Amino acid sequence: MNIPNEKFEEIAQANDIVDVISGYIDVKKKGKSFLAVCPFHPDKNPSLHISQQKQVYHCFSCKASGNVYTFIQNYEKITFIEAVEKLAARAGIELKKNLLKPDHANELTRLYEINKSAAKYFHKNLENLTGSEKEFVYNYLAKRKIEKQLITKFGIGYANKSWDGLLSYFREEDIFNNEDIEKSGLIIKSEKDENKYYDRFRGRIIFPIFNESDKVVGFGGRKLYEDDLGGKYINSPESKIYYKSKVLYGLNFAKEKIRYYDYVILVEGYMDIVSLAKSGIENTVASSGTALSEEQVKLISRYTKNICVLFDSDLAGIKAAKRGIEIILEAGLDLNVISLPEGEDPDSFINKNGKEEFEKYLNNKMTVIDFISGLYIKEGKFETVQDKSAFIKEIIGYIGKIPDKIVRAFYIKDIARKYSLYESDMRDELEKVLKENKIKSFPKSSVVLPERRLNIKKEIDKEIASVEMDLLELFINGNEEAISYLENNLEIDFIKNKEISKITEYFLDEYINHGKIELSKALNDIESEEAKIIVSKAAMNLHEVSQPENNSRDMLLTGVTGKKYNLKFAKDLIKKFKVKELETQRSDMKGDTSMMNEIFEITKQINELKKT
Ligand code: CTP
Ligand code: MN
Repeated sequence: MNIPNEKFEEIAQANDIVDVISGYIDVKKKGKSFLAVCPFHPDKNPSLHISQQKQVYHCFSCKASGNVYTFIQNYEKITFIEAVEKLAARAGIELKKNLLKPDHANELTRLYEINKSAAKYFHKNLENLTGSEKEFVYNYLAKRKIEKQLITKFGIGYANKSWDGLLSYFREEDIFNNEDIEKSGLIIKSEKDENKYYDRFRGRIIFPIFNESDKVVGFGGRKLYEDDLGGKYINSPESKIYYKSKVLYGLNFAKEKIRYYDYVILVEGYMDIVSLAKSGIENTVASSGTALSEEQVKLISRYTKNICVLFDSDLAGIKAAKRGIEIILEAGLDLNVISLPEGEDPDSFINKNGKEEFEKYLNNKMTVIDFISGLYIKEGKFETVQDKSAFIKEIIGYIGKIPDKIVRAFYIKDIARKYSLYESDMRDELEKVLKENKIKSFPKSSVVLPERRLNIKKEIDKEIASVEMDLLELFINGNEEAISYLENNLEIDFIKNKEISKITEYFLDEYINHGKIELSKALNDIESEEAKIIVSKAAMNLHEVSQPENNSRDMLLTGVTGKKYNLKFAKDLIKKFKVKELETQRSDMKGDTSMMNEIFEITKQINELKKT
């Protein structure tokens, strides 16, 4: 990028910082300085100081500071170059186009350019369709009421029903090489022939996915044809410019509207966004298939603190809504829910019933309490005392997620009044939940949410053979003799669980290179969250024990399980692995009469091993 320095200065000089910032937020003059409520952190006081003389701003609270460029970059979430363009336009300064030509040497820039180019191709492709393909596709669009102006607004396109529509286009243009295009996920390398590629999106309606600053980072492709065996939607894989948990479909179109109305409607799908826009409802974003992430909520919270969840009214949608609600509440945002009639999503509802009917729902947003109670009632589970107390417990579970004490108090008051219960009882229950949450979310350093961690735990318990856990325990707690025996006798193939086999390799490495295995170091070194949990669990088996009274080495080596992690333990363990291995071989041969001799031989080996 080569914009000459003088150009920056010329543009900056033509854009007074106080003027520019006043265009976004309220600025008040106080003495020599100008003050404003800082937009970069939640605040009520005017902590943002703007110096007209120096043309800089500084927030005394969150320390945000910079010049006119950084302000609009951060406020609008746009790149530096975009800020330059914007301010140049604002001051009527012309920027020669070639000054802003992207730098193709940069991988990220190339990825953006590839996606942009592909989006244009798909869009043009839809316009240029002919013959029966055109008839079929436009029929589909008409049936789904995707009108021309929506196609334009959302840059909707079409991927030909062919293996190399996009690929040939790129090869003709010859700007990007196939390796780079593959990195964007638009083409896939053939498994049979290293040098061959084919299109990911074939015979599909294409929705470009934009990031916050209007750049195409990926695509979603809606299935059209009966003989297409792929899923209803195919999406771009993640890439260096596309992290699914950090992108919300529609946010780029909705930013201004979200700020203006100070709330956002969160829906599930591409089509929901498109159909709502048709009815003039544009403060909308979609999580598009992925579970709502903390990062996505954070993204939203930069524009508004009020979220209205409007998910599909089916089982999957309700489940997703509940999970989303937790994350939104945890982030401290204000939450409402709209629940459509069973089986509908915003797109289907609007197309069936029209905008006015939809607006009735929009004006009837529910609190979380009413949403959850509605679910209980719908399932006929609001009759008995047990039902109702299950409901109260569930709802208090949600309230326990809210970080703000006062907000929690209001909810509690609400519930007590609504269901004629004692507020003090509700508060007791809440205290219980809060305590549990504290335990669950400790330690907080991990990125894995508590619920996910619990799920992983359950899976781990199911699939790991006890010998494999014993092995890890031995590595962690065993004496030198025992571990050295493992080093010489353990075969990695014995281990069936992938995580455990990775952990074992790590342990052996540590032992060989450092002569010992340290638990805390291991927990730092091991990256996989699952592996970490497994290691902690193995460590726990010993450490869960209350302090033995007798402090002898022997006692310390004996956990509540009564296991002694010594050489004998190591020998027994290796034996168990070998027996297991042989038993598996034997059961694979069972029923095969030509294998009788082998089976007999293996049985003999097993018996011998068991004897010693
Ligand atoms: N989704 C996906 N892959 C699928 C199904 C869904 O990625 N196989 C994502 C898409 O982003 C989709 C969203 O989840 O928009 C919601 O799914 P769904 O409600 O099934 O799709 P709709 O958007 O309602 O699409 P349509 O109206 O075409 O059925
Ligand atoms: Mn849907």
